[in-house]
Amino acid sequence: PHILILGAPGAGKGTQSDNIVEEFGVEHVTTGDALRANKEMDISHLGLEYDTPGEYMDRGELVPDEVVNEIVETALDEADGYVLDGYPRNLDQAETLSEMTDLDAVLYLDVDEDVLVERLTGRRVCEECGATYHVEFSPPEEEGVCDACGGDLYQREDDTEETARERIRVYEENTAPVVEFYDDRGSLVSIDGDQTPDEVWEDVKDAIEANA
Ligand code: AP5
Ligand code: ZN
Repeated sequence: PHILILGAPGAGKGTQSDNIVEEFGVEHVTTGDALRANKEMDISHLGLEYDTPGEYMDRGELVPDEVVNEIVETALDEADGYVLDGYPRNLDQAETLSEMTDLDAVLYLDVDEDVLVERLTGRRVCEECGATYHVEFSPPEEEGVCDACGGDLYQREDDTEETARERIRVYEENTAPVVEFYDDRGSLVSIDGDQTPDEVWEDVKDAIEANA
């Protein structure tokens, strides 16, 4: 299936995408991870405000569409089934996506803003395998060490309180309209993201089985 997962920073898109990949055998296409792997890429030839994706990301701003659209197009071309996470983030990207592919299910993880900051600032990620933890809500057995692979856990550079708040502001301004865009087309399934990860997963799985 072709699945799109929407939600604010910290809503749980990455966490639920991992479950979707495991259950449905699809590819995880995530612009956030793709851009983090290419933070230092030289984009100066485009004549934009900054010369690398990382300079936008560490400020909590969106990386320009021309950079992101190309990443998604290539990734979707190579994927059979996918869960798309982190894109589209504005209405232009949503229009571009509708020209690239068809979607079977559009899921929206709904979480209140005060919960988001707490989730983002407490997040820790494995530098080896990318597994996601939270210091309070889903801590690893041993502090700072990945349960799955033994790798070291680190904090993302954009997960400081200041940058997290800016990312949520950018989300409200640019990405909230994308949620409406799909809702207007009648294709949005809204899920209460403020439950335990397992409870959210039950709802996500049901929604995919009902729609895809
Ligand atoms: P990106 O990596 O996409 O970040 P994001 O949208 O801010 O999403 P996050 O990864 O922060 O949150 P998530 O919803 O995946 O939450 P998670 O599951 O980890 O983008 C980063 C940057 O890249 C952007 O700011 C931008 O600069 C650039 N970029 C990316 N895509 C772009 C695009 N299309 N256009 C332009 N620029 C782009 O969960 C968060 C924490 O909460 C974890 O610690 C987790 O353990 C915990 N948690 C999860 N679920 C629960 C739960 N149910 N209960 C309690 N805790 C939970
Ligand atoms: Zn790991």
